[in-house]
Amino acid sequence: RGKRAFIAGVADDNGYGWAIAKSLAAAGAEILLGTWVPALNIFESSLRRGKFDESRVLPDGSLMEITKVYPLDAVFDCPEDVPEDIRTNKRYAGSAKWTVQEVAESVKQDFGSIDIFVHSLANGPEVSKPLLQTSRYGYLQAISASSYSFISLLQHFVPIMNPGGCSISLTYIASERIIPGYGGGMSSAKAALESDTRVLAFEAGRKHKVRVNTISAGPLRSRAAKAIGFIDMMINYSIENAPLQKELSAEEVGNAAAFLASPLASAITGTVLYVDNGLQAMGVGV
Ligand code: NAI
Repeated sequence: RGKRAFIAGVADDNGYGWAIAKSLAAAGAEILLGTWVPALNIFESSLRRGKFDESRVLPDGSLMEITKVYPLDAVFDCPEDVPEDIRTNKRYAGSAKWTVQEVAESVKQDFGSIDIFVHSLANGPEVSKPLLQTSRYGYLQAISASSYSFISLLQHFVPIMNPGGCSISLTYIASERIIPGYGGGMSSAKAALESDTRVLAFEAGRKHKVRVNTISAGPLRSRAAKAIGFIDMMINYSIENAPLQKELSAEEVGNAAAFLASPLASAITGTVLYVDNGLQAMGVGV
């Protein structure tokens, strides 16, 4: 049978998660999605109304099938963690079983196992504030949504991953180089994510034969990136200064993810793979 993938962090057709889902679907994988609870209704109704049909087209002309969409909020591990104001919030009250533990349980009940786990989500309420002005709350929220969410999801999904399986997350060069504007502790969160990729590769590899890698992607005009406010500048900077002077497409990141998830990458784990037109290799802009 084909492989089964769960992709956490898809709520429209503009981001990396959607592109990764498409590349995996084109390679024959069955697609399950985890969608942030407050974005679920509009995502599902847009899907139903055919709003994404054009972007569901795969290279062979068929449409990507999404087998199931699970509501997910990756900052809550289990029902006991959910505070009253969230539980009773009207954007959450219509959905059930959306904590990390419950989503993994539902996937296990519905399908038994998965082969590929993708983490394509991040959030930092103070991303537009410089680190020097970031509050403790904002910093911890950034780490919770963008870094610990990966640990928690892997913790709960690894037991239902088949040996030889693989997990992939998305990171950004701001973890290791100064990118003014990527604030609120988001640079710290990506540094944690990359370090955790190495440690989790060891633990998940030894215990479950599961590979763990992260893709350091170049700039893309996604919903999340537009919210940061400097995405057009970053795209233009890359086109001017990277070895490959073209705009990066989400599909190029999707294809790299499909490679990492495939048997062609069976010896690759614990790595940060740059998919950024080579920008990370430059020392100065020319
Ligand atoms: P996106 O907006 O398509 O994806 C982010 C997703 O995270 C959204 O669907 C949002 O609903 C979801 N999300 C936020 N908080 C959540 C929570 N608590 N629980 C569950 N889902 C939650 O944007 P994009 O840019 O494709 O982001 C995907 C990943 O790619 C992120 O890790 C981002 O940091 C990374 N990345 C993005 C770059 C860019 O220029 N767009 C560059 C390098 C990395």
